[in-house]
Order: sequence, then C-alpha cells, then structure tokens
Amino acid sequence: MSLSQAEKTLILAFWNKASGLINTIGPQIVNRLLLAYPQLKTHFGNFNVTPGSSDLNTLGIKIITAVGGATQHMDDLPVHLAILTDLHSLTLRIDPGNYKLMIDCIVISMAASLPQDFTAEVQNAMTNFLIIIGDILASKFC
Ligand code: HEM
Repeated sequence: MSLSQAEKTLILAFWNKASGLINTIGPQIVNRLLLAYPQLKTHFGNFNVTPGSSDLNTLGIKIITAVGGATQHMDDLPVHLAILTDLHSLTLRIDPGNYKLMIDCIVISMAASLPQDFTAEVQNAMTNFLIIIGDILASKFC
C-alpha cells in the first residue's frame, strides 16, 4: 500500500494541529491498549502496567512522537523507521497481528483529543499511514 498525495496532505495538516497535543494524545494510547486488550500486558513485563502509570504514559508519548516524526518522512519510511523496526521485529518480537490493535488505540486517542479535526477523511488517511508503519515495524519478524 502507498499513500496518495491527497492522503499525505490530510496527514500533514492533521499533524500540524496534533503536534501541540502529544501530552494529551500520547498517554491515552498504551493505557487504552492494555485496558482494551489486557492479553498484551505480556509484552510489557518490565513496566508498571497500572493504568495511568508513568511507564505507560511515557511510552505513549514516545509512540505519538514517533508517528509525528514519520509524517515528515512519508517518502522514506523504511529507512526512517529502521531502528524501530529492529526493536519491534527482532528484539521485542511483537506478533504482526498486534499492530492493528495498537493502530486502533492511536486512532481513537487522536479522535478523542481532536474530535473536530479528526474527520472521516483524516481517519481513513491516518489509518492507512499507520498500517504502513505497522507493516514496516513487523517486516523483519520471522
Ligand atoms: C504503529 C505501531 C507502533 C509504533 C509507532 C510504536 C512505537 C514505539 C516507540 C517509539 C517505542 C520507544 C522506542 C524507544 O524507547 O527507543 C516503542 C517501544 C515499545 N513498543 Fe512499540 N510501537 C508500535 C507498536 C507496538 C505494538 C503493537 C506493541 C505490542 C503489543 C509494542 C510494544 C512496545 C514495547 C514493549 C516497547 C518497549 C518499551 C520499553 O521497554 O521501553 N509496540 N514503540
């Protein structure tokens, strides 16, 4: 899958607004993930998985920051995400099926934080973008 120019424009325009809210969007992401899909706690063995813990909030902020960084490299994603790909595929060994669950939580956290700006068109473009990111992070899993 690749992004159309229209999708790239929507993603960049949305990120212009969302970048000021990383401390609002970020903490929701992993808290939601582990509350909605508690079976994933096994990947976070060294974390305090209590809802609202600084471990979960901080990781969520790192994740949304990485997504924002990727918006500036939409034509160069595999290279830009090489270190994160090795981390997720080789070190953490995240099952590829789990990316859909994380993507849902990122999308929902964006929508909850910017309900006016997160139109259906932005949702579609952002979901496609996150699917591409997830596919790249999973690409070395074997
Ligand atoms: C769109 C998908 C994802 C993105 C953008 C993403 C991004 C990130 C980022 C930026 C980090 C921090 C790396 C660092 O500290 O240098 C990270 C770490 C981590 N991610 Fe992901 N991630 C994604 C999907 C997932 C999924 C699906 C899981 C598991 C279900 C997961 C589990 C973890 C874990 C366990 C860590 C390491 C935490 C630690 O020990 O510090 N990630 N991720």
